[in-house]
Amino acid sequence: MNKFPKDFLWGASTSAYQFEGGINQGGKAPSIMDKFDEREIYPKGITGFKVATDHYNHWKEDVALMAEMGFKSYRFSISWARIIKNAKGDINPEGIKFYNNLIDELLKYKIEPVVTMFHFDSPTFIDEKGGLDSNEFSNMFELYAKVLFENYGSKVKYWLTINELNMFVFVGEAIGLISEKSKASKWQIMHNLNVAQAKAIRLCRKMLPNAKIGPAPNIASVYANSNTPEDYLTKLTFEQIRNWIFLDIVCRGEYGTWFKNFLKKINEKIIITKEEEKILKDSKPDFIAFNYYSTMTVQNESADDVKDSLINKTDQQTGYVIPGIGRSIKNKNLQKTEYGWEIDPVGFKSTLREVYDRYRLPIMITENGLGVTETLTSDEKIHDDYRIDYYKQHIKAMSEAINDGVEMIGYMPWSAFDLVSSHHGVSKRYGFVYVNRDEFDEKDMKRIRKDSFFWYKELIEKNGENI
Ligand code: BG6
Repeated sequence: MNKFPKDFLWGASTSAYQFEGGINQGGKAPSIMDKFDEREIYPKGITGFKVATDHYNHWKEDVALMAEMGFKSYRFSISWARIIKNAKGDINPEGIKFYNNLIDELLKYKIEPVVTMFHFDSPTFIDEKGGLDSNEFSNMFELYAKVLFENYGSKVKYWLTINELNMFVFVGEAIGLISEKSKASKWQIMHNLNVAQAKAIRLCRKMLPNAKIGPAPNIASVYANSNTPEDYLTKLTFEQIRNWIFLDIVCRGEYGTWFKNFLKKINEKIIITKEEEKILKDSKPDFIAFNYYSTMTVQNESADDVKDSLINKTDQQTGYVIPGIGRSIKNKNLQKTEYGWEIDPVGFKSTLREVYDRYRLPIMITENGLGVTETLTSDEKIHDDYRIDYYKQHIKAMSEAINDGVEMIGYMPWSAFDLVSSHHGVSKRYGFVYVNRDEFDEKDMKRIRKDSFFWYKELIEKNGENI
């Protein structure tokens, strides 16, 4: 029998820009994501984020469906640009009200709100002030955090700082997180985000002593492609760059020695002030949230010199290269989704063990899931046994990790509802609930329960003991 903790937070995730739409409603200021589809780098032939799956106008109905599924928690992000109007920090009362209503509705059904403060959608006014390049970013983020804590702090216990801070570094351009105007190096941007995260944690401690706050990077075990010592060293390097530097800074309060030397080798410098060093030391999280999709397998590729830091031009899970050190390659032992992401539930277990062994903090999974194209049957159904199978395997792996001693708080896979993928449009569907729209035909946005909806409902009822 698989035992999950009594108060385990079963639920699912979404993010504001991929789910809400309503970009011209309720006084929302523009965000860089509103017009991502108008930029040269956005793939052609797919929809952008202007309408998404219209949660802004369906939120009540959507929460009722979450309640029907028996959600104990719901992880969503607040759109910075919906609640703050400009760089001066003027508040948009209608935006504040939207999230108050949403949170109240969740609490009405006893669903714990788990709030991501920043999920990829920088307001345009931030971009105009130098965006992520400037160390001013952390001050603006702190002001935003203050507004969040003042307005929602009495109702929200779990806060997540920045979604996938590591993906700003690796796929910042490919998935539109960083504007073309940006001039700073990706490592300086990482540092600016780390300081912003630390300031938010520090402020949370001060304003909301009973709340819990943590980071939410994208983490995965890294395998060596062979048992050669060179491949093993390459694996160590990749796991530093892909995972640990992002968790070390927030959980240990400093960058590791290996990373500092690596930056010197590639002639990169991060400007860190004394004050920032202190803030980073004094702002440890209560838990680690992370998103897990698949592991990475790497092979050595030696050259005399390490020429550059990590390059990734593909997506969050594939196509990683560190020139002179190695690259990620296909793992022959793993199956792939139709979008080329490897499926590895055993790797989920190893990732959980590694993260827990390294930091000894409770873990919350804030994303995990299967993106596929799906079409309604003639009687309006989605028979998604493949998704049920994916979840069965991953939840089983998680229960085994718990049996091994990993302390876990919750599981909120991606995604509660179909929404717009980071760069594959609305056709790459992840939800327990189908949303009736196509790339350019917005249809009726009807919400339709997939087979996985009923399966997940039963799993939650039984607290995962039937897995
Ligand atoms: C994560 C992001 O990287 O993966 C989500 O936090 C994203 O925003 C999810 O949607 C799945 O990725 P994709 O590219 O399939 O949408």
